[in-house]
Amino acid sequence: MPQLIVAPSILAADFSRLGDEVHAAEAAGADWIHCDIMDGHFVDNISFGPAMVQTIRRQTKLPLDVHLMIQHPDHYVPRFAEAGANSITVHVEAEAEHDVAKTLQQIRAAGCGVGLTLNPATPFSAIEPFLAEIDLLLIMTVHPGFGGQPFRSDMMAKVEQAAQWRLQHNEQLHIEVDGGINPETAAISIEHGANALVAGTSIFHTKDYAAAIRALRGG
Ligand code: DX5
Ligand code: ZN
Repeated sequence: MPQLIVAPSILAADFSRLGDEVHAAEAAGADWIHCDIMDGHFVDNISFGPAMVQTIRRQTKLPLDVHLMIQHPDHYVPRFAEAGANSITVHVEAEAEHDVAKTLQQIRAAGCGVGLTLNPATPFSAIEPFLAEIDLLLIMTVHPGFGGQPFRSDMMAKVEQAAQWRLQHNEQLHIEVDGGINPETAAISIEHGANALVAGTSIFHTKDYAAAIRALRGG
């Protein structure tokens, strides 16, 4: 099983001090920086684009874990790779309107880690055909669009299915969870097999980021 990763989501950070927030998260022990990209079509919210990722790239050496909650992610893969993404995760849902297999190849060809994700309403079977092509499987534990939503514990069955697959096929597969992750739900997710934790509110809306990250690690 890969090491335990804590990936603060800057969606919950203070955008008026984004550079400081990224530095603070890094100093507090973050492993990756999670960038939630939203286009207002695939999800009912708009966040930020490649220019913001490039700004963050200049602030840290940490891997940037870019989560595309957008339609036509294939159209934007080159721009996020160019902006400095280390890993790009796309949604499997038809509403994203892309050829999933082709987009995964495109991410690989761009030299980025390949991630795939599914919404709570999407069955695990939807991503099974692609598991051999990816480095990271993100199991959404909220419906994407907003931070601060409650954790969906019914998603743990999918985490367990992913952990089963990892055991039999690819020990290096990252199983990531995103949405409502706090110390309690992090422990539940890890227990079921997740090794990468995306957390926005439970880090950036606290006074002590290092303590928050330690708590997510079970410290
Ligand atoms: C949902 C977003 C959120 C965000 C983290 O579209 O992807 O899950 O990363 O949210 P919280 O604040 O719940 O950690
Ligand atoms: Zn995310």
